Amino acid sequence: MEGKMGRTKQMICCVLVAALLLIFSCLGVDGRKQSQTTITKGMKGCNMYEGSWVWDDSYPPYDFSKCPYLPKDFDCLGNGRPDKNYIKYRWQPKNCNLPRFDGVDFLKRLKGKKIMFVGDSISLQHGQSLVCHLHAAVPSSNITADDPNIVRFEDYDVTVIVSFQPFLVDVEQEQVGRVLKLDSIKSGQIWKDVDILVFNTWFWWPSFLAYDYIQDGDKIVKQMDPIKAFRKGLTTWANWVDSAIDPSKTKVYFRGTTPLHYNGGDWGDRAANACFNESEPVSGSTYPAGLQPEQKVVEEVLRTITKPVTLLDVTTLSQLRKDAHPGFYVKEGPPDCAHWCTPGVIETWNQLLYATLL
Ligand SMILES: *[C@@H]1O[C@H](CO)[C@@H](O)[C@H](O)[C@H]1NC(C)=O
Ligand SMILES: *[C@@H]1O[C@H](CO)[C@@H](O)[C@H](O)[C@H]1NC(C)=O
Repeated sequence: MEGKMGRTKQMICCVLVAALLLIFSCLGVDGRKQSQTTITKGMKGCNMYEGSWVWDDSYPPYDFSKCPYLPKDFDCLGNGRPDKNYIKYRWQPKNCNLPRFDGVDFLKRLKGKKIMFVGDSISLQHGQSLVCHLHAAVPSSNITADDPNIVRFEDYDVTVIVSFQPFLVDVEQEQVGRVLKLDSIKSGQIWKDVDILVFNTWFWWPSFLAYDYIQDGDKIVKQMDPIKAFRKGLTTWANWVDSAIDPSKTKVYFRGTTPLHYNGGDWGDRAANACFNESEPVSGSTYPAGLQPEQKVVEEVLRTITKPVTLLDVTTLSQLRKDAHPGFYVKEGPPDCAHWCTPGVIETWNQLLYATLL
């Protein structure tokens, strides 16, 4: 799944993440209150997103080194990361056990279907991790990837697609420059024919590098508070879900936003040098910095949708994994505490996704 385009995009994203750091430190930490949300989905009688990371000798759940679709950028062990503890943690919900990810069963359940991951480079990582996890289950089956972003498991008639659309809403080149259009979501035309859609957006919203202007209704502005713009853009997406999705054909997920681990104070260790020397998850089930303003927006906007949407609520469990970023062990580009090493955390997102299909 490497492709020149993919790499360029990932590099752009690295630059953006660096810019984000500055912006985040300017935004400060207001609004980090625990949300009152009750959006929990998944297994009966169990909030599978509440729990902690436990050591598991049998981990990682499969051998990633044999996956031809694993991008080198986030293959931390391949890039020289010396500590390997971070691949040995399993997510343990407080009140139940998660089913093990069963790739063959996953493929059989999805027979004849397309699953698409839409969002920024972390959404691409999410889809790529699923491809590797499925590949490990059926390594000798016929898998084709004429386009690196579209991987087909031919023997099961299952297609995994990743689509880079970091705002979900449109960015269009116009005479004045690149315009982020809060009310326009043309890609919806492509999405509506997919069977399972896993959306995410957030990281790019605070980056003023990604666009020159914002169009909000008939106003064109140079800048807007990122949270306000995010809320408007996400609402456009929510309205699209309500108007375009046929729930008997298409299942819609929103994957919760994930943290940046550049600020040790967030996990109660002000002396920490970002995520760079972290080799263990935060213990327990709560993250000292709590929920972020963008997570509140996600929960509020999702609640306005009348069609069924599942929140794949990976935010807190990912916040706890300050140890699972590439840090210095990226293939190229600046040290990275935003993307995730593969393997590491994202297999758990897919294990949770699998649990919602059972
Ligand atoms: C794999 O699937 C493709 C598409 O159906 C087909 O053209 C190709 O012949 C298959 N390859 C093998 C080795 O079965
Ligand atoms: C990183 O952690 C190791 C092990 O805990 C420690 O020995 C080393 O001094 C740390 N390095 C830095 C730069 O903090």
